[in-house]
Amino acid sequence: MSHTSKYENIVTENRDGIYVITINRESKLNALTLGTLSEIRAAVEHAHNMQGLKGIVITGSGQKAFAAGADISEFAHFSVDHATRMSADGHEVMNTIENGALPVIAAVNGFALGGGCELAMACHIRVASDNAKFGQPEVNLGVPPGYGGTQRLVQLVGKGVALEMLLTGDAIDAQRALQLGLVNHVVPQEELWNKCKELIEKIATKSPVAVSKVINCVNDFYRPNVNGMQREIYEFGDAFGTPDFKEGTDAFLNKRKPDFKRP
Ligand code: COA
Repeated sequence: MSHTSKYENIVTENRDGIYVITINRESKLNALTLGTLSEIRAAVEHAHNMQGLKGIVITGSGQKAFAAGADISEFAHFSVDHATRMSADGHEVMNTIENGALPVIAAVNGFALGGGCELAMACHIRVASDNAKFGQPEVNLGVPPGYGGTQRLVQLVGKGVALEMLLTGDAIDAQRALQLGLVNHVVPQEELWNKCKELIEKIATKSPVAVSKVINCVNDFYRPNVNGMQREIYEFGDAFGTPDFKEGTDAFLNKRKPDFKRP
């Protein structure tokens, strides 16, 4: 287990090959300042440059909030230009999480509102504690969501429910989020880490090459000017030239478990 302290707003920890990023502003319900978001991005990029990692878990400190949104006190006086930059930079952070080769799980330990909900939605899988609440309350502040919420919420729950959540600003509880497919699992708060670990450990037994290719192909489904089918054909063929494919097929044919090497 190793800790790093180069960040001010997050804590990072390598827990047995799982890189845990904890937003560490509990007294402000882990509200996302610009600095917090850029640290999350740096930590995710750092994790992708580390050797042998199985995946990333993003969570919030305390038992009340994952993140209660972008920090309203910080952006309240932003100009149009500044706000546009804030949104564009936020999108970059979310895209970095979504498009990386490592699986990223949001361990949603409480409020996931506004930017907090958007951060959770940028992760590949969401596991929520039973007290979690999800919502996009930006309409109350006179703005639409700015970190991808209008797009990823539609992708995850469909247009009708997404529009209701976005237009009313109402939050939904963890069970409703589960019914809608906004989260993958709901567990008691004390089980949150175990569930995330179980999922990442399972994925870690699979081919890292195939895992990253699946992420690429699925993400392409949502890119307007990209043909996901073509991407799949490319990634499928490309996989045949990798040691993972040799190992996976050899293991199957010889009735043994595959032993994939982690980059
Ligand atoms: N930005 C800045 N500060 C925030 C914040 C945010 N998004 N969300 C919570 N905080 C701060 C509060 O201002 C308060 O700080 P203080 O103790 O210095 O006054 C602290 O976190 C605790 O929040 P509080 O509102 O007292 O907790 P609560 O349990 O009464 O309410 C919420 C919880 C989540 C319902 C409420 O904090 C809230 O509505 N937050 C804003 C949600 C939002 O609109 N997010 C979208 C932003 S784009």
